[in-house]
Amino acid sequence: MRRPLVAANWKMHGSCPRVQAYLEALLPRVDGSSAEVVVCVPFPLLPIAAMIASGSPVAIGAQNCHWQEEGPFTGEVAPPMLAELGVAWVIVGHSERRRFFGETDETARQRAEGGQRAGLSVIYCLGETLEERERGATLDVLDRQSGFLGGLDPAHLAVAYEPVWAIGTGRNATPEQAQEAHAFLRERLATSFGNAGGAVRILYGGSVTPANAAALLAQRDVDGALVGGASLDVEGFSAIIRSAPGHVRG
Ligand code: PGA
Repeated sequence: MRRPLVAANWKMHGSCPRVQAYLEALLPRVDGSSAEVVVCVPFPLLPIAAMIASGSPVAIGAQNCHWQEEGPFTGEVAPPMLAELGVAWVIVGHSERRRFFGETDETARQRAEGGQRAGLSVIYCLGETLEERERGATLDVLDRQSGFLGGLDPAHLAVAYEPVWAIGTGRNATPEQAQEAHAFLRERLATSFGNAGGAVRILYGGSVTPANAAALLAQRDVDGALVGGASLDVEGFSAIIRSAPGHVRG
């Protein structure tokens, strides 16, 4: 069974007062929502976010984690440090990490494993670049990237299909393009996890807004959204949450 999952990715935005005001406005708005809601903020904002959201239906997520529990890795954050704060989710393999910080399929996979070992649920990002889509390689890329999911715990995994050309560009995938990619990923999850793959939510990410969310989320295999820019505005993010279908799938 797949309950819609709507996650905010604040990227490198925010401040303590801002996250406090945001969550205080968001919490009453998600009461009774059909969707599960996660807010992923920069590391320094996690303690205050986790404290405010504690006991509420909103879960807090980080945007990255290392794979080891501790060690000489300057600038990295260990998964148990996140779990200790009450952080429930972590994003791994985001295309901005891949593009600007040398993240690869292998390191994304390791980070996912490390996060799950510490009890975190993982949003695992993948998706093709514009060049890959234009030369017809989209499904080959998704095939390669999703090949790294096998062996992870499907009960604590969501996959985010984020076409790189749609991220932060204002040019979202059409609902049909998203559905095609998600249906392909659904099959790959069934190969990797058998029946348990049917419970893994596949989120769409890339220029999701209140205006396009309902059409994207209505697609059969689009189980939620990972929202960047539009998640920074609490009204807009609440509207996206309300666009989620009111039923579970699977
Ligand atoms: P965007 O970002 O909604 O601003 O396109 C999505 C993401 O990068 O997760």
